[in-house]
Amino acid sequence: MNDNFINEYFGIGIQNGKTPENLGVLWRSAQNLGATFIFTIGNRYAKQASDTHDAVKSIPYFHYDTFEAFFENLPKGARLVGVELDKKAVDLETFEHPRRCVYLLGAEDHGLSQKAMDKCHFLVKFKSEKSLNVAVAGTIVMYDRNLSKPRS
Ligand SMILES: C[S@@+](CC[C@H](N)C(=O)[O-])C[C@H]1O[C@@H](n2cnc3c(N)ncnc32)[C@H](O)[C@@H]1O
Repeated sequence: MNDNFINEYFGIGIQNGKTPENLGVLWRSAQNLGATFIFTIGNRYAKQASDTHDAVKSIPYFHYDTFEAFFENLPKGARLVGVELDKKAVDLETFEHPRRCVYLLGAEDHGLSQKAMDKCHFLVKFKSEKSLNVAVAGTIVMYDRNLSKPRS
């Protein structure tokens, strides 16, 4: 293991995801880009053919019925990073990913809820004409985390 990655971890998940295939793609990326756990809030995940590497059997998958339940059960000391094309979000390119954090993506139709964005310790975005597919967005964030960048 790369020594730079000692004492750190991340989880990634989605609030009210609408398309099961997107979750399968996101989990496949999560498993292959180093996520420690994956989760859903609201809509539950059902096994999809797009999760070709069977991520849900390889890394812990958590489900929370509500945002409040998710927020109360965040790992102690982990920062919550909302991923959203929002005017308050900072640019991913210069973002220093926290050593221990949880990335939260929004639904395909409405994005992250305002309540969730208000509770996030950080909001990040990357430049795109319009919003990208949620699984693609999550994959970009994880790829960026794995670049040799300073941590916060
Ligand atoms: C299809 S988008 C949601 C679009 C929604 N209709 C909206 O405009 O709020 C689904 C999710 O992908 C992520 N996403 C897509 N493009 C993004 C970008 N450029 N920067 C940050 N997150 C992005 C966000 O988590 C977003 O909630």
